Amino acid sequence: MEKLIPGLEGVPIMESQVGFIDGQKGILEYRGIPIEVLAESSTYEEVAYLLLWGKLPNREEMAKFDHDLRTHRRVKYRIIDLMKCLPETGHPMDALQAAVAALGMFYPAKIDPAEIQPGTDVLARDKHYWSIIRLIAKLPTIVAAFERMRHGDEPVRPRDDLSHAANFLWMLTEQDPDPLDARILDVCLILHAEHTMNASTFSGLVVGSTLADPYTLVASAIGALTGPLHGGANEQALRMFREIGTVENVRPYIEAKLKAKARIMGVGHRVYKVKDPRAYVLQGLAEHLFRVKGEHPLYRVAQEVERVINEHVGAKGIASNVDFYSGVVYDQLGIPIDLFTPVFAIARVAGWLAHWVEQMKNNRLFRPDQIYTGQHNLPYVRMEQRT
Ligand code: ACO
Repeated sequence: MEKLIPGLEGVPIMESQVGFIDGQKGILEYRGIPIEVLAESSTYEEVAYLLLWGKLPNREEMAKFDHDLRTHRRVKYRIIDLMKCLPETGHPMDALQAAVAALGMFYPAKIDPAEIQPGTDVLARDKHYWSIIRLIAKLPTIVAAFERMRHGDEPVRPRDDLSHAANFLWMLTEQDPDPLDARILDVCLILHAEHTMNASTFSGLVVGSTLADPYTLVASAIGALTGPLHGGANEQALRMFREIGTVENVRPYIEAKLKAKARIMGVGHRVYKVKDPRAYVLQGLAEHLFRVKGEHPLYRVAQEVERVINEHVGAKGIASNVDFYSGVVYDQLGIPIDLFTPVFAIARVAGWLAHWVEQMKNNRLFRPDQIYTGQHNLPYVRMEQRT
């Protein structure tokens, strides 16, 4: 008898060397390096290189990769035109998904099955290398352009003298970014760049396994990331803190939700049974930012939510995840609430593509099975005889 494993919980779907999680001990590593070390010492650009190539770059490798990213930030005016046709009330994640899907139509990206053999390194092929560069470089431009245009403003041209994170803040506001804000965002991007076989990475790999091009892969991964059980939770967590409003309201609010078996956003995780290591780093960042710029009005609400959750369901292994504190940090950086998940996508694109590079070395079409529970050999009943 076949055994159904709902949600593929605990089922490995491929071998990987990109990221590692120990959900009991609260460990996350990218290519073997602990996330806390990368958050302290690295940059998003270097982490993207590490994820893709599996090693830290030397000075020349870093300079070339960084240069290629900086010089591919602009998007074609037709992509801007396309986004102008989207409703400004639409969610920026949907606009991002549409724009990324369209992006692949402008560049050579299609894959001939003969190109992909066991051991194929797509990073060593120009066509695929440039797809990877364009995707990482252009996602922030697309998100910032949609944000500007939905308020009736022209998109701000990307600058190639700024880092990935600083340039994104520049394109959002047309103000020179504060160095502390840029570094905080840089660390947030590092923290969100990769997370093993989650729903969006898996969606991307399902598409990648058909030998669809990487733009299509990233567009499908963005679609999976929109959901409130995955990347969409960061936005929902801040909305919940706003709804609660005061520290006094936390306990009755959370207890009522738990009693009603409702989900509390920003807590719980399929793999982590302790507090997510990224939540610790984000909380540290939040506190650093608040010391310099003043405390976020909802930070104490968030801390109280964490306390009450811990008291009631901590023993069940439900603790804060990455989405719990990211909202208060982004809000303090002036990033609009519905851009939180797009910011997640801007970071995660490196992880999605690192998994694609690995997959193309040893691809196998995903074609799982099902357990059929329907009927067989039923008669076709004519319309006039149906009740
Ligand atoms: N709030 C309240 N109870 C929860 C929560 C939560 N956020 N998460 C899990 N539980 C409870 C469930 O009700 C269930 O209780 P029961 O055993 O009494 O029925 C138990 O914990 C196990 O829940 P499952 O749904 O089986 O756990 P699963 O592994 O599917 O949950 C998930 C993972 C979907 C992330 C869940 O924790 C959740 O919905 N969290 C809120 C959304 C969120 O923050 N998502 C972001 C995750 S991180 C990321 O994707 C970037």
